[in-house]
Amino acid sequence: MKSGLEDVVAAETKLSDVDGAAGRLIIRGVSLDDLVATSRYEDVVALLLDGLFDAHIDAASIRSQLGAARVALFAHVEAADPADPALLALPPVDAMRALLARIEDGDDLASAIRLMAAPAVFLPAVLRLQNGDMPIKPDASLSQSGDILRMLSGRVPTTEQTAGLDAYLVTISDHGLNASTFASRVIASTHAGLTSSVLAAVSALKGPLHGGAPGPVLDMLDGVGKPENARAWLSHALDHGERLMGFGHRIYRVRDPRADALKTALKPIFASGQADAGRIALAEAIEAAALALLRERKPDRPLDVNVEYYTALLLDALGFPRNAFTGVFAIGRTVGWIAHAREQTLDGRLIRPQSRYVGPLPKAA
Ligand code: ACO
Repeated sequence: MKSGLEDVVAAETKLSDVDGAAGRLIIRGVSLDDLVATSRYEDVVALLLDGLFDAHIDAASIRSQLGAARVALFAHVEAADPADPALLALPPVDAMRALLARIEDGDDLASAIRLMAAPAVFLPAVLRLQNGDMPIKPDASLSQSGDILRMLSGRVPTTEQTAGLDAYLVTISDHGLNASTFASRVIASTHAGLTSSVLAAVSALKGPLHGGAPGPVLDMLDGVGKPENARAWLSHALDHGERLMGFGHRIYRVRDPRADALKTALKPIFASGQADAGRIALAEAIEAAALALLRERKPDRPLDVNVEYYTALLLDALGFPRNAFTGVFAIGRTVGWIAHAREQTLDGRLIRPQSRYVGPLPKAA
């Protein structure tokens, strides 16, 4: 048995391919670099879902369906008790998941649209409530990214900010058989429905070894403070057995291509003075020091920067609080979870692996 099922093939998919040795990600035949350069969120939704439902799918109709679904889903926010401790005290991703659980299960495109629109409405609403502000109604005429940022801050976002969030949502839309996607496929294989698959996937995503790392990346940046402190601070963390957040990956043995895509996406926001440019300089200094230290201390284990590192800078610059980063990840990855769930339901069998019993045997009578 391989611990962590490393290298075990558990599904065939036409959705995405992660080539860890080459540092390459392909989504439905398009390389990530090309996809980020040419696509908005709605384009990648159409790309991933095309052919998986009976209905015709194109980016323009996805945009209007998502807009209408966001507006309809706001009823769940209006119906919620704004003083409910489950909304106010839970981490934002957990509060968002609690609201998601109210959406009925289904297997059609309308269910998929609802599930992609729901976290986009619920996360900004939860963040505003937790901040003592009233949630803002969705605007169906905006793109999903533009509306998320508007519902978060109450202001119409700049072109650079909307493009930055689009680049993020496209970059993280799908990524092979990662833990949350596998969870989604397992649930889908029982024919439980898309809401159940997405809830399972959100639950897998929130762990710090999966999608919960970018918040701690910012804590690390704050801890280091100045570029000249980087090596000493990181050495101290490694001496105490800590992992450097935003580095290492189960599949990539070279640089995570998503890190570069996000680094490119965040530059216009910083270059136009919409975020503190010193933050990028600090991040680059920490990255260089971390890579040098990891190579010295783990010469046999190639450890490079992963997607979470520049995610942290980008989402911070877009105004998301760090405790919400996992929830934003879920907004972007939901389309991938749905695509895999549909692929599994259409083509796959019930997933039911075996375990090897290594416990005690019953005593003879
Ligand atoms: N910092 C320091 N050491 C590390 C790091 C790190 N970030 N990552 C791995 N190592 C070390 C481990 O301590 C281990 O050393 P050992 O053999 O001496 O015990 C060795 O490298 C191998 O580590 P594994 O646990 O086998 O690596 P695995 O493939 O299971 O883990 C993971 C990958 C979980 C991403 C890991 O690199 C990690 O914890 N990184 C930090 C958290 C992080 O950035 N998570 C986001 C991942 S991206 C995503 O999921 C979207």
